[in-house]
Amino acid sequence: MNLTHISLPQQEIPTHWYNIAADLPADAPLPPPLHPGTKQPATAADLAAIFAEPIIEQEMSTQRRVKIPEEVRAIYALWRPTPLMRAVRLEGVLQTPAHIYYKYEGASPAGSHKPNSAVAQAFFNKLAGTRRLATETGAGQWGSSLAMATQMFGIECVVYMVKVSFHQKPYRKLLMQTWGATVHSSPSDHTHYGQRVLREHPDSPGSLGIAISEAIEDTVSTPNTKYALGSVLNHVCLHQTVIGEEAIKQMERAGEYPDVIIGCAGGGSNFAGIAFPFLERNLRDGATTRMLAVEPAACPSLTRGELRYDFGDTAETTPLMMMYTLGHDFVPPKIHAGGLRYHGMSPLVSHLKKLGLVEARAYEQREIFDAAVQFARTEGIVPAPESSHAVKAAIDEAIAAKAAGEKRVILFNLSGHGLMDMTAYEAYLSGLM
Ligand SMILES: Cc1ncc(COP(=O)(O)O)c(C=O)c1O
Repeated sequence: MNLTHISLPQQEIPTHWYNIAADLPADAPLPPPLHPGTKQPATAADLAAIFAEPIIEQEMSTQRRVKIPEEVRAIYALWRPTPLMRAVRLEGVLQTPAHIYYKYEGASPAGSHKPNSAVAQAFFNKLAGTRRLATETGAGQWGSSLAMATQMFGIECVVYMVKVSFHQKPYRKLLMQTWGATVHSSPSDHTHYGQRVLREHPDSPGSLGIAISEAIEDTVSTPNTKYALGSVLNHVCLHQTVIGEEAIKQMERAGEYPDVIIGCAGGGSNFAGIAFPFLERNLRDGATTRMLAVEPAACPSLTRGELRYDFGDTAETTPLMMMYTLGHDFVPPKIHAGGLRYHGMSPLVSHLKKLGLVEARAYEQREIFDAAVQFARTEGIVPAPESSHAVKAAIDEAIAAKAAGEKRVILFNLSGHGLMDMTAYEAYLSGLM
């Protein structure tokens, strides 16, 4: 029998996150974020209005390994290490010589990779004395993860949830409320910016860019409140590297090494999480694994966007970041992969793409659901619409390996399950997509 479930004991939960900023080529450092007013590099003091000090330190750090506090590891231990699975039934249906492995982040209580950073952010905010955190959420995965994490550390949580997802995914809202958070549909009338959007575009479906603007306005206008972002920024990518660090050990146990690593990319954090620790092997040990980020054709920042300084939000309140962007006022179509409806991309992932160290590909919505259903019918797990982008790319890579007659090893991140996304599956199965 082939091994299909490669687990690690709890003692093997990583002790450190990996910071790829330490290994960027010396002649190609990451361009710094700029202050939105002066257009000069943003300082720690500039960021202090919205972020707690330890978070800012991590955001700017170039230290290769950052210790994971024991309090964070203890909460990770509720579900980590997540399993590494081999999709032998899918391989069989595809009749491919490729071996397809996936890291299953849907095993967390919130159902995705997002708690890896939510727990860390809640912990460091607690340490810094933050009493309330404001955030945005697209599909609701990040909002529910932060709701759970803040509950565990006794911090209040308010979530601005993109309107289209608020209606498409009602159970996500209930999950956030179960974990004690307050949830607003964004654009909302709780902020001046939300009110303005509603006045100018009463039917706005919302976007992550708008919800971020609302959460930041809430942060700067409410005492004892800081802001938490679920993706894009360096510290979020850093926290997610527990995924790849575990996967390295699990691939060793499986006796294989990936030829290609795949992750879907909204703001870039789960892709970074699985790819960066392996990219360290490429950069320092001469490994040659390909890294593939996958995004929706409806919101193609990496494949069709421009690399330039842009705002992270619609109201132009965040620092400017050097990233692949579709423009901060871009409102993506109402695709079901709500977590991938972001106009920009992590500056780190953008930089690595520019340097040719990361590849990118975009897929249409229907084809990712074809792949998702094929995966569900062979492997059992129903993937989140976001994660289904990675599933589709893994299937295509396996088909390419078959065409080339090569036994390639494919590893992808199954960033979340889709059990709260069944209205999307309903649209697909009823032919309405
Ligand atoms: C299951 C899942 N995967 C992926 C993403 C995309 O985010 P990121 O690119 O930061 O991993 C989201 C965002 O909400 C998500 O919920």
